[in-house]
Amino acid sequence: MCGIIGAISQRNVVKTLINGLYRLEYRGYDSVGLAIVDENSKLFRVREVGKTIDLDKKIQHLAVFGKIGIAHTRWATHGKLSERNAHPHVSDYISIVHNGTIENYRELKTWLRKKKYLFFSETDSEVIAHLIHWETQRNKNLLRAVQKVVLMLHGNYSIIAMDSRDPKRLVSARTFNPLIIGLGKGENFLASDQVALSSIVERFLHLKKNEIAEVSKNDVKILSFDGRLIERRDVSSQIYQEIPTKGLYRYYMEKEIYEQPEIIEELIKDRFDSKNNIFFSDLEDSRIEEIFIKMESIQIVACGTSYNAGMVGKYWFESFTDISCNVEIASEYCCRNHVISRNSLLITLSQSGETADTISALNLSKNLKNYLASLAICNVSNSYLVRESDFSIMTKAGMEISVASSKSFTAQLTTLLLLVAYIRNLRKKSKDSFQKDLFLSLKKLPKYIEKLLLNHQEKMNFLISDLFDKRNVLILGRGDHFPIALEGALKLKEIAYIHAEANYAGELKHGPLALVDKKIPIIIIAPYNGILSKIRLNIEEIRSRRGMLYVITDERVSIQEDDQTKIISLFDIEEIISPIFYAVPFQILAYNIALFKNIDMDHPRNLAKSVTVE
Ligand code: F6R
Repeated sequence: MCGIIGAISQRNVVKTLINGLYRLEYRGYDSVGLAIVDENSKLFRVREVGKTIDLDKKIQHLAVFGKIGIAHTRWATHGKLSERNAHPHVSDYISIVHNGTIENYRELKTWLRKKKYLFFSETDSEVIAHLIHWETQRNKNLLRAVQKVVLMLHGNYSIIAMDSRDPKRLVSARTFNPLIIGLGKGENFLASDQVALSSIVERFLHLKKNEIAEVSKNDVKILSFDGRLIERRDVSSQIYQEIPTKGLYRYYMEKEIYEQPEIIEELIKDRFDSKNNIFFSDLEDSRIEEIFIKMESIQIVACGTSYNAGMVGKYWFESFTDISCNVEIASEYCCRNHVISRNSLLITLSQSGETADTISALNLSKNLKNYLASLAICNVSNSYLVRESDFSIMTKAGMEISVASSKSFTAQLTTLLLLVAYIRNLRKKSKDSFQKDLFLSLKKLPKYIEKLLLNHQEKMNFLISDLFDKRNVLILGRGDHFPIALEGALKLKEIAYIHAEANYAGELKHGPLALVDKKIPIIIIAPYNGILSKIRLNIEEIRSRRGMLYVITDERVSIQEDDQTKIISLFDIEEIISPIFYAVPFQILAYNIALFKNIDMDHPRNLAKSVTVE
């Protein structure tokens, strides 16, 4: 999703900005742009619908040079995908880049039109450029102009503004969307994501909500929206976030699917001590143990794949501990009233830690009574959710580039399961062998996933070729495998562009059975577990209506094949780790269909990796 960068230096910043754009690519975008002020104070802007590489080529050809500049990756929210909607937006000598949305842009546009401003784009962002221009005419100073403008804007945003008449400073402001300042020697940078800057600086300042920064080559001044000067200590981070390469894989998605066995193996190594007891080095603060013992309920909030992981977490918390657990989609959680039960813990689950809806939910929870604390389970250690939550646990899946989550999902599930076992142990008066048994089960998981990845053609090819030209698919599951059906359906929608719907297998007879005919493929997840007999009933309901059925199951389960029922028999997986394992066949299925259809699965249409708007 949109990413912004700014640079001011004593050397040419074009390459730095372009490199930053490359590094922001993984967030997902549909157009890019850059503005530079050259040695003669001339503003130079280049925009491109397409990839950073196209902009890069264009700029090399034009031999642009400048020591101050701003750049942007756009993921369209207001106005179609076109060059004139791409950022930076310009109002005479003012140029701006913007991440987020301006809710009152229509009113502002009407007001600006009355002041004779012309609009060249359909975006909400262009009003910011004109408003700053209007204000600089009054008080000549970019910082003061931005201070006035932020009071007029309603919405969630981060912006960087540049004035070509005064190429000695950039002014940036944010409400909700992240913004980080990278501190160099005789040069400073701004970006919406540390990834964009981690190859050039090691010291950072985080701009917080409702703050403005004036950034020059040698200085950074931070002010609150109400004008107070703010002292902020810089933080040092030497984590050079190398953007991983695809290696020999065709897509990041493929690479990330194949990385899963190793990630789980590492998680086991990291989270179990030599006596096979679980420990979380990220939770060293002794208060959290007290909270885990005192808490009476858990509220998980997340979006998309992370929500699906949270759903599995709910089953696990309620099966293996005495704590009740609710899960809610973050975009719903943040927009309704709540009754929070006594002594609750809020858990946010997120790969990126920058998802706007999940951040809103966390922010809302801070004003709600009865939460003991917030805990983020996240894959990005310097993300907003990690910084702003009381406690955090890392899922350690490594940087995920492909827009559709794969390895981050199985890492979230593994982490959740470990957390459940850890909390169970803390709360149990008489300790049992749960952790040690879990260790033994988890140890087998990487091998099973590896085996499936090696043999998937033999096991799954007929399913892949049967489904590849279908428009609709139903996926059914029960219990802790229902969220796996949800995740499977999400993968098919996202990267294979197939309309896939997940249903509780037991709900079939309450409606979806009407869809069953010879044409719509139905996949049912039938692991070997305590509710297999119920799943068998659901299988019979479909068979007796001549539905086109695919049963993904275990070698211990015998189900008769016929011309309408096909069996994908996987390995004997222990019940406790089974949801983690069963996520993988769906990743393989969606990935292979996308491959057949020649879909750029790392960048599925209309989607972005980091969803930073609500
Ligand atoms: C699906 C996918 C999305 C994300 C969702 C939340 O493959 O990747 O549904 O899961 O946008 O993102 P995070 O986990 O970063 O909060």
